Amino acid sequence: MTNDSGTFTKEASGNLDQTLRPQNWEDYIGQEKTKENLRILLTAARERGHAAEHVLLYGPPGLGKTTLAHLIAKTLGTNMRVTSGPAIERVGDLAAILTNLSPGDVLFIDEIHRLSKSIEEVLYPAMESGVLDIIIGKGPSARTVQLDLPPFTLVAATTRVSLLSSPLRSRFSGGTFRLDFYSENEIADILRRSASLLGMDADSKVLESIAKRCRATPRTANYLLKRCRDLAQLDGTDITDDIVERTFALLEVDELGLGKPDRAVLEAIIHKFGGGPVGLGTIAAATGEEPSTIEDVIEPYLIRLGLLERTPRGRVASATAHDHLQTT
Ligand SMILES: Nc1ncnc2c1ncn2[C@@H]1O[C@H](COP(=O)(O)OP(=O)(O)OP(=O)(O)O)[C@@H](O)[C@H]1O
Ligand SMILES: [Mg+2]
Repeated sequence: MTNDSGTFTKEASGNLDQTLRPQNWEDYIGQEKTKENLRILLTAARERGHAAEHVLLYGPPGLGKTTLAHLIAKTLGTNMRVTSGPAIERVGDLAAILTNLSPGDVLFIDEIHRLSKSIEEVLYPAMESGVLDIIIGKGPSARTVQLDLPPFTLVAATTRVSLLSSPLRSRFSGGTFRLDFYSENEIADILRRSASLLGMDADSKVLESIAKRCRATPRTANYLLKRCRDLAQLDGTDITDDIVERTFALLEVDELGLGKPDRAVLEAIIHKFGGGPVGLGTIAAATGEEPSTIEDVIEPYLIRLGLLERTPRGRVASATAHDHLQTT
């Protein structure tokens, strides 16, 4: 999309997600318990003039972990350094990040479950005692040098908390917070704000039908809203019920909010493996999805809807799942 002068507008530069990301606590809808706990932790630390203790955020994709990390840094009034598990390849990478922090900074490590063991071990003393142990040399002449680090707050996020070693988990002394799926009302509030930021005219009924089908996930809700807006724009109309229904049909989102990959998993379990129990690897091979995608993205919502169960012997599709596939 270009504006009158033919240049790309800010929105068209692809940063709509940034535009919709809440910049303050009032706009961060839901997750009330987590917000309350963080508010106390952060305000107390700030009043004492200390760096806040380390915080771990976990939960399925798109529920607001990164957004929360930004709000934490904003509340503390400090800078945030952003990195991720896969980006820290060598011990030296982490050492460089840690030694370059300013006192009180927030270090945000996304996908922390992907840190290697050797890097985790450097992180422990840094989190616990604020020191960096560096080994210089090799063999018998190797020695450890200890560097004092500026006080900092580690905010880490993961979709796979079960992959974190227990020594690492135990070092998040400020708390470990699980983000939950959102209620339909909360999603409708998020959509109302997004629609207004996007300059859209959408009535409550329309927003509610999107809220019902977004897998209880703000990112998906915003995505569906934008796709409805695209179609409405091509049709030269407002977002009507008809536009919403057609958008869902185009994107193959069914009335429970399940997309093709969700249904493929249920179909595989039911049609190929007699309803289960069947192992994750087998489902992955049958659907062509990565096991990690099935575990992190697809399953949590199917489990929440009671369509799928995780048992010690494998995944089992519920009677509701059988019924659902028959009607779609
Ligand atoms: N509580 C909330 N209130 C309003 N909008 C939200 C909320 N949580 C998330 N969003 C919206 O959803 C988008 C995705 O959130 P975010 O990037 O923080 O998710 P995430 O948990 O970090 O996902 P991932 O695991 O994929 O990194 C945000 O850009 C924001 O627009
Ligand atoms: Mg994120």
